[in-house]
Order: sequence, then C-alpha cells, then structure tokens
Amino acid sequence: MNLKNKKVLLGISGGIAAYKGADLIRRLQDQGAEVRVVMSKGATAFITPLTLQALSGHPVSTDLLDPAAEMGMGHIELARWADVVVIAPATANVIARINAGMADELITTACLATDAPVVICPAMNQQMYLNIATQENLANLSRRGYTIWGPDAGIQACGEVGPGRMLQPLDICARLEQFFAPKLLAGQKIMITAGPTREAIDPVRYISNHSSGKMGYALAQAAAAMGAEVTLVSGPVNLATPAGVTRINVESAEQMLHSVMQDIAQQHIFIGCAAVADYKVKQVADQKIKKSNAHMQLDMERNPDILATVAQQQQRPFTVGFAAETQDVAHYAMDKLKRKNLDMIAANDVSIAGQGFNADSNALTVFWQDGQQALAVASKQAIAQQLLTLIANRIKSS
Ligand code: C5P
Repeated sequence: MNLKNKKVLLGISGGIAAYKGADLIRRLQDQGAEVRVVMSKGATAFITPLTLQALSGHPVSTDLLDPAAEMGMGHIELARWADVVVIAPATANVIARINAGMADELITTACLATDAPVVICPAMNQQMYLNIATQENLANLSRRGYTIWGPDAGIQACGEVGPGRMLQPLDICARLEQFFAPKLLAGQKIMITAGPTREAIDPVRYISNHSSGKMGYALAQAAAAMGAEVTLVSGPVNLATPAGVTRINVESAEQMLHSVMQDIAQQHIFIGCAAVADYKVKQVADQKIKKSNAHMQLDMERNPDILATVAQQQQRPFTVGFAAETQDVAHYAMDKLKRKNLDMIAANDVSIAGQGFNADSNALTVFWQDGQQALAVASKQAIAQQLLTLIANRIKSS
C-alpha cells in the first residue's frame, strides 16, 4: 500500500487510451490511493463518466460550468484537494492547451489551479507525438516543472508503429509509488551490480547463468526513488534502465570488477546483487573451437570476488552482499558476512519455487553484525524498498 491515503486527481482526455484510465483507477486504489476523476468532453466519446464514477466511487465531472458538480467539490477545491494531478491519457490537444495555460475545460483548469505536482502521460498517434509542436509543448511543460512519463513505443490503435502509446497503468502506478517514496537516501551515492556475467569460451560461445537482473534493477529503481544517485553496473539482461539511473554495461566478471573499482571511491553504498560467474575459462580461444572431438574439456580458474574486493578497500562504502542458498540459509549467510567483511548480507532461500532467481517476488532475511530482520515474501520492488530502508537506518545509526 505504497500510495496509502494519497489523493490522486486523474484527468482523462479524449484518446483511445482513455479506456486504460479505468484500469489505472483500480491499480491506484490497490495501493491505497484515493482517486477522483475529471474528464474532457472528448474522453466521454471513449468511456462513460458512469463507468469511472462507479470505479472511483465519486462523481465524475466533465463540465467546468456544471452547477450540480460545483455544489459538491468544485473545480478549485478539487485542484487543491489533490496531492498529485495525473493526466492519463494526455492527448496532443490537451497538452497544447495546458502548455498555453488555458482554463477552458475541467482538466486544463485543474492543472492551472493546483499547487500539487502535475504528471503528464502522453498518448497519441506517433506522428502527432513527433510533431515539433507537441515536442515543444512537452519540453516547455517539463521546463516549468511538469513531469512527463512516457510514451511507450509500439503498435498503435491506428495501425502505425512508433512512440505514442500511453504507459501501462501498472507502470504509472509504480512510478507514482516512487514519486511519493520517502527520500531516505538523499545525498547518497550508491553502486549496484546486477544480472549475470558472461565468461567467453571462444568468440561465439560463453558460460553464464539464469540471473534475470530483476532484483538489482528493482534496487536501482527504488534507490533512485529514495533520492540516491545510482550507478548500475549490469551484466547482459533484458530490462529497461530505471529512470534517473546511470547504467554501465559489462559482460565478464573482470569487466564488472574494472567498472566497479573505477568509481568505488566515490560511493557511499555498494550492493553486490550480480550473479557473478565463479569461474572463467583460463585460455579463451581466438577462433571458434571446432567440434572435432567427442569430448572436450575446459580449463577454468576462479573469477575475482567483486564484493570481497570492495569490502577490502581502506575507505570503503557501506557494503552489502546477497547470499542465495538452498539450505541452512542463516548459517551460510552469517559465515559469508564475516568471511567477506561485509556490513550487511541479504539471504534468500532459492530452493523455494517462485522466489529469488528469475522470479518476480522474493523474501529475504537480512543479517548484520548484531542484528537481523526478515522481509516477508513480496514483489522485488517492495523488497528492494524495505532493504534500502534497512540500509539507510543502519547508516544513520552507525
Ligand atoms: O560467494 P557467493 O557467490 O555466494 O557470494 C554472493 C555475493 O557475492 C553476491 O552479493 C555476489 O554479487 C557477490 N559476488 C561477487 N563476485 C563474485 C562472486 C560473488 O561480487 N565473483
């Protein structure tokens, strides 16, 4: 319930993505938000006020000059009530009118009359989005402190392909959760390793593992939302870089170590979340190895331990490791904490299906020198936020 008691004024304008507004209301409510809706006249051609009224549990206004609506919560009151105003979908037309400072409809008036932050989620035909007029309007709004989220690119309702799809309601919801997250890590520089490493065998083959990078990316996203300056040193994964995060792409453990050590002296916090390959091929072949023999043997040697190397530095950041275990989790985790000289270790039991490796949820037991805390199974985003809160509290108390 990361949006508990947050008051969201949702402005829905007239595009085909208006139907996603209905789902967005539900997703926001799932997180505890209170949602009130204003619609443009155009939006009523795509979705009825009655639908949105039933979902939000409040009357839905479309008309600025509606005496009945003004008897309830008037347009100025609505604008003042909001903790955040979200325009989703925001058409090219409504974006232009907000930029011009017009107060010709409830949506535009709410944007003018509010002192809450305003988030714009554009949704339109890709050519309309790319048109210089729309681009200038968005740039102008961004300069004035409006927040622009999206659009996504892909296939559009009109059959064209390109940028202009409204972000998915779940994505908007997650971004709002970040938006309201307490800034416990303001002023902190944090480096996170994530994903697998790839250890080359020859120019076309490598050894790797199934790490998805989801936990490390969730940590990076949550840390940025909590006000930290985040560097993500990432092995090859199929994930988008979280907003505001600096990402450095690497392949091998050696490359990961090199990138980490280049900037480690500047960091306040280091979290080793990557599934670093334990071994690398001793002699990487220059040319593709031919399959002439029935058997083949690879001579392998240990990779450097990135986490332990960071923890050995004289001036070292608050250093956090992960321990993926299948048995005796607490014992092995505490042993790793001491052996690698860590400040904290987050242990997970990867033998439990749907948790840890490659899954969307996780549960951790976090250990430090003189304490421990269990974080019950939850989404990796929620677990990331809880782990970072623990880290922030440990730093504050030390
Ligand atoms: O020793 P083990 O691989 O179980 O330790 C896991 C922790 O150490 C993780 O935090 C992982 O990111 C880190 N690690 C590392 N470099 C390695 C091996 C593990 O940074 N070569």
